[in-house]
Amino acid sequence: MADTDTKDAFVAFERVQKSYDGENLVVKDLNLSMPKGEFLTMLGPSGSGKTTCLMMLAGFETATHGDIRLDGKSINNIPPHKRGIGMVFQNYALFPHMTVAENLSFPLEVRGMNKSTREQKIERALGMVQMNAFAGRRPAQLSGGQQQRIALARALVFEPELVLMDEPLGALDKQLRESLQFEITNLAHELGITVVYVTHDQTEALTMSDRVAVFDDGRIQQLAPPDELYEQPQNSFVAQFIGENNTLQGTVTKLSGKRCVVKLDGSGEEIDAVPVNVNAVGDKTTLSIRPERVEFNPNLGPESHTLNAEVLEFIYMGDVFRTRLRVAGKDDFVVKTRNRADQVRLTPGEKVKIGWLPEDCRALDA
Ligand SMILES: Nc1ncnc2c1ncn2[C@@H]1O[C@H](COP(=O)(O)OP(=O)(O)O)[C@@H](O)[C@H]1O
Ligand SMILES: [Mg+2]
Repeated sequence: MADTDTKDAFVAFERVQKSYDGENLVVKDLNLSMPKGEFLTMLGPSGSGKTTCLMMLAGFETATHGDIRLDGKSINNIPPHKRGIGMVFQNYALFPHMTVAENLSFPLEVRGMNKSTREQKIERALGMVQMNAFAGRRPAQLSGGQQQRIALARALVFEPELVLMDEPLGALDKQLRESLQFEITNLAHELGITVVYVTHDQTEALTMSDRVAVFDDGRIQQLAPPDELYEQPQNSFVAQFIGENNTLQGTVTKLSGKRCVVKLDGSGEEIDAVPVNVNAVGDKTTLSIRPERVEFNPNLGPESHTLNAEVLEFIYMGDVFRTRLRVAGKDDFVVKTRNRADQVRLTPGEKVKIGWLPEDCRALDA
């Protein structure tokens, strides 16, 4: 495993389980360790247990089973305000009756800092998010993006080593979201803080994170850097959840080392793949192929197989072409090609051969 040893980890979850009702586990067996300074994102569909994990780390919920450690110390019995953790939520959660400066002053007063120290730290934190000019305003006098910047400044003002963010950009429009994504990652790396970030937006997760933990059904399905997650998904859920993905169902007919041949259910044709979650000839599998890795009329060498396909739709998207095909009886197979001068533009009804390098196709769980 590429994981840090939990003994040296800054944040560690060890065999953590959580049940709210004493019956159903919403977090099932969570193991995670993060080195200091890492930006880790928990990504997953709604209800997969992301917020629950964040709340346990923050101290607002207790683990039903297992251990959570911060900087080597078990934090199960340390109250939230003593954990030194900054938090940012989706709905800003600023105090409406206080000015921006008073909002930032609050976490410092709680920690017993004197006025001049507070003023210095507030000035600095507002500077980080370029909001010094707004110190005297109340939240209602700020736009959504400005409020979220203040929420960020308030989480950073007491210089925590760990900051937790739960869908902090979810309420903002696309453009603002993208510029704040950039600001947050830059700030985190500049300050050297460790961040656990929660989102259900895969693009956000891929662009911001050092590593991404993909959640489903209370478990981490895969924990890896963005490129590894996209290029080497370990199961069908991850392949389908991250990026665009083509799937084909079939049965393994040959298996040797790092290659297998799969006979497709829909057409009986055979194609090459990397065996990931298959162990023997006869195993059922779901093949996963990224749309940009498929080649038309491929010239792949004598041992490679190709498939017959019929063009159903050709979409001109400017920088890329999207071609939808019928492959092995399925109508949803998508191929993305770059708009180059010599790139073929196919027409609906055309019959073509498609194929790929075996290493670009993964035989996953059925
Ligand atoms: N306070 C709570 N009491 C009971 N069940 C809860 C509570 N908070 C969350 N849950 C349930 O736990 C599961 C995981 O929720 P959550 O951690 O909020 O997921 P996510 O943040 O990934 O959407 C869901 O089924 C949710 O309904
Ligand atoms: Mg949530």
